[in-house]
Amino acid sequence: MMSVLLTAGLVLSVNAAYAQGPGEAPNSNAASAFDNKIIKKISADNMYNTIALLSKEPRTAGTPGELKGAQYIKGQFEKYGYETELQPFAFYDVVRTNVSGVLEIGGQDLKPYVFSGSFSGEVTAEVVNAGKAILGTVPDAVKGKIALVERGDNTFVDKVKNVIEKGAVGVILYNNTGTANNVGVADPGQNIPAVTVTRAQGTTLAEQLKSGPVTAHLKVTGSGYKVGTSYNVIAKMKPNKNKDTGQIVMVGAHHDSVPGGPGANDDASGVSAVLELARVMGNMPIDTELRFVTFGSEEKGLLGSYHYASTLSDTEADKIVAHFQMDMIGSKDAGGDNKANGLIMYTIDGKKNLVTDLASAAGVRTAMGEAVPYGQLGRSDHQPFHELGIPAALFIHSPLEPWYHTPADTIDKIDKNKLQETAEIVGAAVY
Ligand code: BES
Ligand code: ZN
Repeated sequence: MMSVLLTAGLVLSVNAAYAQGPGEAPNSNAASAFDNKIIKKISADNMYNTIALLSKEPRTAGTPGELKGAQYIKGQFEKYGYETELQPFAFYDVVRTNVSGVLEIGGQDLKPYVFSGSFSGEVTAEVVNAGKAILGTVPDAVKGKIALVERGDNTFVDKVKNVIEKGAVGVILYNNTGTANNVGVADPGQNIPAVTVTRAQGTTLAEQLKSGPVTAHLKVTGSGYKVGTSYNVIAKMKPNKNKDTGQIVMVGAHHDSVPGGPGANDDASGVSAVLELARVMGNMPIDTELRFVTFGSEEKGLLGSYHYASTLSDTEADKIVAHFQMDMIGSKDAGGDNKANGLIMYTIDGKKNLVTDLASAAGVRTAMGEAVPYGQLGRSDHQPFHELGIPAALFIHSPLEPWYHTPADTIDKIDKNKLQETAEIVGAAVY
């Protein structure tokens, strides 16, 4: 926990909020002088302006848009007096430019879907039925051949892995239902072309194989992986040397967006609150290290936060007592009629922890005026912290807005009141 002084302040204000007995007048302004040091300084206009600036263009991981955003964030942290670092990391980025897939059997092109990340290559070989390509069931006969594989029971990546291990030179996946063929994912390093056909095409091919060999010509172009560079932006404020709890409190958001999406709410909103809290806390005497981080490549699979977590030594990880993650905290169109304006704290295990306890109490004391509920969900950068045993939670509004991951996730959908409430809660809880 924080120092005696900070703890006392916190406990006092929590008690003030809860001390009200039956029949007593509601305590409409439960914020303590202690909370007010933070919340009175938080400006929703600042946050709004940050979102407007960051959402001018997509910040897709590995693109100049991300780097520009990250450099802006770093510059702001520096202005507020923080020790900063732009932490680069490499990641495999799917290539899908002018992608094309050809699968010719008996002079006819089945016009297959190319797996996301499929290796680009060309093979002509016999087709061998490999069932569902479950580990241990792939026939030796796929060696040097194209494996016909049915969807289901294991992942696409595992299917490709299992047939590569047996020497297959290509994959034809067929769907297990419906009429669509647009599924399939391959991993970097799975260097054989992999495509998908419809269930009808697949079962026809499986039947044909029963009555004799079938040769296929499989060609994939414009697909694969390239190595990209993404960034985390780290800002640290060390406590007073003579008054140091030896602990670290972290506040995070992700600065990358989905391709083509300006990501105003997802997650320039979280970044705006991170920057605003960093600004407000920049000049405060503290006894606990504050660490503000914006992560890259969250949308690619929480890559930035996993990378960051991997760079922490055991000693450093042990010092981190809390991680507050804000992701999608400002949409006008999210939250529905739920309590707390739809704000919810998600933990990975669905259990409350230090972060949710502090923030729930802060909700009562600040503009929200009520406790924030919690639930169970991953899907954001609180995950790697939880895996390190660090109390962590995601702050988000539920239900989601209809613009989630669309080009319509723009600044005009942002609600300053939601930004203000969330930043007050997280700010008061952190402080
Ligand atoms: N902001 C979302 C996370 C989210 C969405 C949380 C909806 C709760 C409800 C985040 O940026 C995101 O889209 N995450 C990915 C997961 C990731 C592992 C690629 C997602 O949920 O698809
Ligand atoms: Zn997000």
